[in-house]
Amino acid sequence: MSLLDVKGVTKSFGPVHVLHGVDFKVDRGEVVGLVGDNGAGKSTLMKIVTGMYTADAGTISLDGAPILDFSPGARRKMGIEMIYQDLALARQQDVAANIFLGREPTRSLFGMRFVDRATMKREAQAMIDRLGAKLPAINRPVGSFSGGQQQSVAIARALTFNPKVVIMDEPTAALAVREVQGVLDLIRQLKAEGIGVILISHRLNDVLSVTDRIVVLRHGRAAANLKTADTNMAEVVSAIVGGGDISEAAAHEARG
Ligand SMILES: Nc1ncnc2c1ncn2[C@@H]1O[C@H](COP(=O)(O)OP(=O)(O)O)[C@@H](O)[C@H]1O
Ligand SMILES: [Mg+2]
Repeated sequence: MSLLDVKGVTKSFGPVHVLHGVDFKVDRGEVVGLVGDNGAGKSTLMKIVTGMYTADAGTISLDGAPILDFSPGARRKMGIEMIYQDLALARQQDVAANIFLGREPTRSLFGMRFVDRATMKREAQAMIDRLGAKLPAINRPVGSFSGGQQQSVAIARALTFNPKVVIMDEPTAALAVREVQGVLDLIRQLKAEGIGVILISHRLNDVLSVTDRIVVLRHGRAAANLKTADTNMAEVVSAIVGGGDISEAAAHEARG
């Protein structure tokens, strides 16, 4: 039984048919790449998984049980987390504040409730250590951090919800080359903890190096489902552009 099992998902926005009966699975401790050209339907499919959008048809199961509640809050409680490309961090706040944004631990003193900064800092540091993330100082505003370090904070924040599935939308797109490996290592750490990871990315080298499987969406259909160990860049690119047109595939690869 798969951890996440998406079956026959169909979605239209008015007259625009975006997804046509898409099947998509993720196992525990599996990293699945979700790739495809702009407009292929990747974000829409993931927003249906997180409950931001409702599918017109199809089912989604987690741990073998169909998900019937469509609210994003309920999905998060079930263990589905998505890290968006903009990371949704408070740039002026430090690491601990960002990790516990909106649900800070509190303590009582003379009948009043205070944010428990000591507990917050300790638990934030524990989460960073668990991930093996490298941060300059956890009491600095995250806006002063590099893109890779900010990504670490967003992943640590996601981990505090005890996710079963973590969906990452282009986590390496805006990073300096020397920072990419660090983020790929964080993905490997999530995998080692048995979390299922879905990686949406245009950076096929990253996808080929960190995933177990690659699903290619083309015009709203799952055009290929490839075991990473048995495929290569050319095959993935040809599935993305369709029809095995080598010159178009080469041009796509050159565009990155
Ligand atoms: N809220 C929306 N309303 C109307 N059309 C949308 C909406 N969201 C996405 N689309 C359309 O759905 C198609 C797929 O978009 P998207 O899922 O963002 O693709 P991808 O993430 O693969 O680039 C595009 O044609 C896009 O214009
Ligand atoms: Mg998208």
